[in-house]
Amino acid sequence: MTTLEIERDVLLAPLTSLELGGPAKYFVRVTRETTLVDALRWAANKQVPAAILAGGSNLIVPDEGYEGLVIQMALAELDFRRGGTVSAGAGVAWEKVVDGAVARGWAGLECLSGIPGSTGATPIQNVGAYGVEVAEVIARVRVLRRDTFAFDELVPEDCGFGYRDSVFKRDPDRFVVSSVDFALRPNGPGAVRYAELEKNIVPDATLAEIRSTVRTLRRRKSMLIEPDDPNRRSAGSFFLNPVVAPADADRLAEQAVNEKLVSVANEVPRYPTEGAQVKLAAGWLIEKAGFAKGTRRGAIGVSSKHALALVHHGGGTTAELLAFADEIRARVLDRFGVTLEREPRLLI
Ligand code: EPU
Repeated sequence: MTTLEIERDVLLAPLTSLELGGPAKYFVRVTRETTLVDALRWAANKQVPAAILAGGSNLIVPDEGYEGLVIQMALAELDFRRGGTVSAGAGVAWEKVVDGAVARGWAGLECLSGIPGSTGATPIQNVGAYGVEVAEVIARVRVLRRDTFAFDELVPEDCGFGYRDSVFKRDPDRFVVSSVDFALRPNGPGAVRYAELEKNIVPDATLAEIRSTVRTLRRRKSMLIEPDDPNRRSAGSFFLNPVVAPADADRLAEQAVNEKLVSVANEVPRYPTEGAQVKLAAGWLIEKAGFAKGTRRGAIGVSSKHALALVHHGGGTTAELLAFADEIRARVLDRFGVTLEREPRLLI
């Protein structure tokens, strides 16, 4: 039996990549499933809300903080089993999983290198990069049901995965992800599907080469969190790439040609999706709406390397960040009739 060590008034900013926001009224770090249950029961008994904090790299903490219990997930088991199955606790740093898989020659995660945060967050927003989504290799998600305090194992069909979406994201009060099993491909070829990756890689690249190229591309965009990078305080992509009807994408391309934003329509980036819809590039829309890379509003700015990331330069507030995001959203809507949706979670 472990005792629950609840702390009071813990600053959350240092636990997030944006380094913004106020304290948690109550805070606990959990390293075991039993303590997770105890923590949730504690909050229920006290009648305060409970929220889960993982790696903090996709989270916006309001300036007023959180008036409840923040549970930091630190479940750290990591098991590479024979046959290509990896089982990882929610608190395991994601890069450690990618690292172990690539070192063993197990394919499936090499394109997902350099993504900050922890393993438990990967199914929640179905993380994806360079043509690969984590849902492709998830075998099982072990969850705690918040209504019954019982553990359960969900197969991918139960997870409702979509583009940066899942049942966990749509219904955050239902489950807490406690560990994830991945089914990888021992000796399998790596995935080179993304045009930018293809352009920068040698033919028949090994998993390690694919991983290394992905990291180089991410570094160029300040999408690797590195201590000397002036764009490092961000939550990665701040908006989702909007998914629209083909007719709306055609209309946008026509407008872009008419306004001489591009010389030919196919210069407007668009990607097919699984349905009949078209995915647009939010970074392109933001730039073309007039927010050049590096645009600043006080302590908050557009990353100087990638227009889709908003950066905190130090000494700012969450209110400033959200105000700048609203300004961008309103201008993109006004200019192009496209609505941008926030990608990182707001801790409320
Ligand atoms: N673009 C611009 N200006 C910019 C950035 C991008 O015009 O400043 C245009 C370019 O035309 C470029 C296109 O947008 O070709 C796509 O850019 P990029 O390849 O950088 O990818 P993205 O669509 O902006 C998405 C993910 C990233 C992921 C990359 C690579 C989302 C919301 N973001 O970004 O994920 O790393 O693809 O696969 O889907 C994240 O979710 O935090 C994240 C970093």
